[in-house]
Amino acid sequence: MYGIVNKGIRDMVIRNHGELVWEKIITEAGCQEDFFMSMEVYDDSITYDLVGAASKILRTPAPDILVAFGEFWMIFTATEGYGNALQIAGSTFPQFLDQLDDLHRRLGTTYRELIPPSFVCEEIDDQTLILQYHSHRKGLTSLAIGIVQGLGKKFDMEVEVQLIKKQEDIGYDEFLVKYIPIQKETTKEPNLNSKQPNNEKGKCPFSEFRGAN
Ligand code: HEM
Repeated sequence: MYGIVNKGIRDMVIRNHGELVWEKIITEAGCQEDFFMSMEVYDDSITYDLVGAASKILRTPAPDILVAFGEFWMIFTATEGYGNALQIAGSTFPQFLDQLDDLHRRLGTTYRELIPPSFVCEEIDDQTLILQYHSHRKGLTSLAIGIVQGLGKKFDMEVEVQLIKKQEDIGYDEFLVKYIPIQKETTKEPNLNSKQPNNEKGKCPFSEFRGAN
């Protein structure tokens, strides 16, 4: 896999646990390098070993490490200069998921040896979709789940991802993805379209703004 993936794992560990823990992880993984070049291809085994070592050192199951890394991936790629790639990849959460193959295809013009996953997205209704995740690699289901969750956060969506069919059974993973917009508690704009009174006690809907600040 391209070094950007291992670099992302390194960044996440150092950010959350510090350099010393990272040193322990690379020692545990038997990894020769402490730093990774984004555009260089490394053996996949290095990534798997890093995740295994992080699981041991942080006493956290490997799938949880992968979910956390997936969620971090969206923040990390934006800081690595892919903010623009993310911006043109879709303006809504389901649109973005539907265009993941285009996103990786575009990345393939820079990352010539990319072996990208492939996704098939089927919208069920405006809060539910089914996402197929096809990969040449094994064991990265939780990574895909984490990235989808992280993507949801970018779109201010509360996302629930449920694995409904498994790669080991049918050759690819299938997820049921449910998403609803996150209700912002501190909104200062009264919702003029809302048919519900926007305070539970049925008082004047603007009273909460009077004492604000
Ligand atoms: C600009 C943002 C993104 C960049 C730069 C990026 C780049 C990459 C790279 C470099 C790899 C490693 C593959 C290889 O080296 O052969 C990868 C793998 C992967 N990407 Fe993306 N990606 C991005 C966004 C996404 C998004 C939004 C998803 C959503 C689910 C996604 C899902 C995955 C998964 C699951 C893998 C694991 C590899 C596999 O299954 O074989 N990526 N990506």
